[in-house]
Amino acid sequence: PGNVKHIVCFIHTCGGTLKGRNGTIESPGFPYGYPNGANCTWVIVAEEGSRIHIVFQSFAVEEEYDFLSLYDGHPHPANFRTRLTGFTIPPPVTSSGSIFSLRLTSDFAVSAHGFKGAYEELRSSSCGNPGVPPKGILNGTQFNVGGKIRYRCVTGYVLDGHSLLTCVTTAAGVSVWDFPVPICRAEDTCGGTLRGSSGLISSFDVPSGDSAGGLGSSGECKWTILADPGDTISLVFTEFQMEEKLDYLEVEGSEPTTIW
Ligand SMILES: *[C@@H]1O[C@H](CO)[C@@H](O)[C@H](O)[C@H]1NC(C)=O
Ligand SMILES: *[C@@H]1O[C@H](CO)[C@@H](O)[C@H](O)[C@H]1NC(C)=O
Ligand SMILES: *[C@@H]1O[C@H](CO)[C@@H](O)[C@H](O)[C@H]1NC(C)=O
Repeated sequence: PGNVKHIVCFIHTCGGTLKGRNGTIESPGFPYGYPNGANCTWVIVAEEGSRIHIVFQSFAVEEEYDFLSLYDGHPHPANFRTRLTGFTIPPPVTSSGSIFSLRLTSDFAVSAHGFKGAYEELRSSSCGNPGVPPKGILNGTQFNVGGKIRYRCVTGYVLDGHSLLTCVTTAAGVSVWDFPVPICRAEDTCGGTLRGSSGLISSFDVPSGDSAGGLGSSGECKWTILADPGDTISLVFTEFQMEEKLDYLEVEGSEPTTIW
């Protein structure tokens, strides 16, 4: 007594199989940093017929060296869905079936505080909370089929994409939002770098179609879309209107370099 030394040991258990309606997942050691050389796999198993929805609450993983890989099913290469890295909270993700796996792999050096997320089982009639983009505000709490939610942006930011989303059922009987979550970008700016499995690009911030909107009278906007190595990117135009001969959109690809 008076001279007792406390020795505290942290044992980093990592990964495992998770069952139950909902729960949380966090990287070992969160928020004090995950170990180097980690390879942790979580397999979330929901009831047959349900899907799994994950909302990240915190995310910091050494960019381009450490990764959180998502698998739509068991963690086999054939089920690979996407790879998350870096220091921004990814948007929520939904599995297509009743199993969803996450694998954290870290290299031999440098760590970061790691990640934390909440998962829940989604009934077939729910689209799940699609999340709030940075600088965005979500109005609405109805995430079931027929539910509508509305987005807007904080002052100084404008919305790119659709502000109103409706939870609909596809022909295959899956409940999904009819449009992707919009993004909020600073006023008087255009272009940027986009990551993630899908997204929206638009030149106009003025919905009425003011010809000076977004582009200015003589301006240039450049967007860079980054995908995972080996993936391809498809671009689908839903609206296109530009002043003929004077304004143009150039699309340039890399690996191999191509220009349209
Ligand atoms: C699971 O859901 C229950 C009921 O909605 C909620 O009270 C609880 O906080 C949730 N747990 C987690 C870990 O999200
Ligand atoms: C992680 O572990 C899995 C299975 O235990 C293995 O298949 C995979 O190759 C490992 N990944 C790394 C990067 O070591
Ligand atoms: C949210 O939407 C409801 C119904 O459309 C509306 O009455 C309410 O004012 C909105 N709230 C905010 C904060 O925008």
